Amino acid sequence: MIASSHTPLLYIETYGCQMNVNDSEVVASVMREHGYATCSAAENADLALINTCSIRENAELRVWRRLAELRALKRKNPRLMLGVIGCMAERLKEKLLEQEQAVDLVVGPDAYRELPNLVSMARAGQKGVNVELSREETYAEIAPVRYESNGVSAFVSIMRGCNNACSYCVVPYTRGAERSRSEQSILREVQALIDSGYKEVTLLGQNVNSYRMYADDGKTVACSFAQLLEKVALLSPEMRVRFSTSHPKDMSDEALHVIAQYRNICKSIHLPAQSGSARMLKLMNRKYTREEYLERIAAIRSILPTCSISTDLIAGFCTETEDDHRQTLSLMREAAYDFAFMFMYSERPNTKAARRYADDVPEEVKARRLSEIIALQGELSLKSKQQYVGKPVEVLAEGFSKKSQELLFGRTSQNMVAVFPRGSRSAGDYLTVVPTRCTPATLIAE
Ligand code: SAH
Ligand code: SF4
Ligand code: F3S
Repeated sequence: MIASSHTPLLYIETYGCQMNVNDSEVVASVMREHGYATCSAAENADLALINTCSIRENAELRVWRRLAELRALKRKNPRLMLGVIGCMAERLKEKLLEQEQAVDLVVGPDAYRELPNLVSMARAGQKGVNVELSREETYAEIAPVRYESNGVSAFVSIMRGCNNACSYCVVPYTRGAERSRSEQSILREVQALIDSGYKEVTLLGQNVNSYRMYADDGKTVACSFAQLLEKVALLSPEMRVRFSTSHPKDMSDEALHVIAQYRNICKSIHLPAQSGSARMLKLMNRKYTREEYLERIAAIRSILPTCSISTDLIAGFCTETEDDHRQTLSLMREAAYDFAFMFMYSERPNTKAARRYADDVPEEVKARRLSEIIALQGELSLKSKQQYVGKPVEVLAEGFSKKSQELLFGRTSQNMVAVFPRGSRSAGDYLTVVPTRCTPATLIAE
């Protein structure tokens, strides 16, 4: 506890993926134990933490710009302690302090339990740095403080780190080795969410299909991802279960059958392909071929006929030719993706690709290929939505639509956003609506 007359206020700003969002909730919990309450404006805070992402250069540039603004704020309010946490903290370590002297704390993703000590150090005038990665840390028993939640859906991390070595990717360096969180602590957390009225959980990991708990002998698998999914689904039929991300090389039929068996497990799978070219996939070290990827898509379509499939795609990876790019476009058509996150390749320092391959696709070519991928996905997304127009779909209402307080928005099991008149419904309700029209992004019911 800090000896002071007022409750110290913590402001957290989060960049990057869902795991970072959940980590910020863990951080809020750790700091609350030490007397901090969260606030929603840096101007009011005693401690401002920026939870950062390193996945692409742009993600880091945004953070640098934001830090410059916070430096100005600190000049006005010298009491404000400024911390950089998360993936950029891990990637840059002490170097970050050299580049931005307004920063008081640099804390990596496995060191959040140390935050209170590091903050005290910083208050005493010494910069607080801890960027140790851990082989065990899963923050298993820390109850995340869901300070920005809609009260309907929540993230639950089931593992941390990543043991894959995709050649373009910084995550194994910023998040360390893969480790699974004990199933008991996951089930306890989901049960607590059910008890407080939540209706949807998303189980998070960089590669959820490799979730694994071992028996005491250290060899026998005591709980696989498919088994965990089933146990979570059985807790309450009213609780929807989602999960992300599935790596194509580990997406098992066993898991697909569990998804098929339970109505509350959402029929929506995020299965990043990255590229449609066999040569690119090899260079990316994704460990599956185009054929194997398409075989997984076929398995999903046959075991889960109503399932939506989304993907991540990278345009302009090292040595990518027009032919490789066309293979990505053709894969997109074959897989008929319902949704995609699409990126230009961004070289990340010290990754295998940065060390071994030339980032040799000119920026304007990357941009043109990306725009072709985005245009095609626009068509595919529209087609995907159109199949639901005129048919009843079940949605879980999440809150007001951005456009009007008279409209609610929610999601279908397939993770499609639907907007509909509020009527007497509110967030957290399940209801059936009939979309009358759609855009590539939204189903609209009138
Ligand atoms: N673990 C997940 C992805 C995490 S990163 C998986 O393996 O699918 C999210 C997405 O960012 C990746 O799927 C990839 O499409 C993209 N990405 C990662 N590194 C990138 C880079 N260097 N340049 C551009 N996009 C990248
Ligand atoms: Fe990165 Fe590959 Fe791990 Fe995903 S699976 S986080 S892309 S290394
Ligand atoms: Fe970014 Fe780290 Fe997530 S690099 S995408 S915040 S794991």
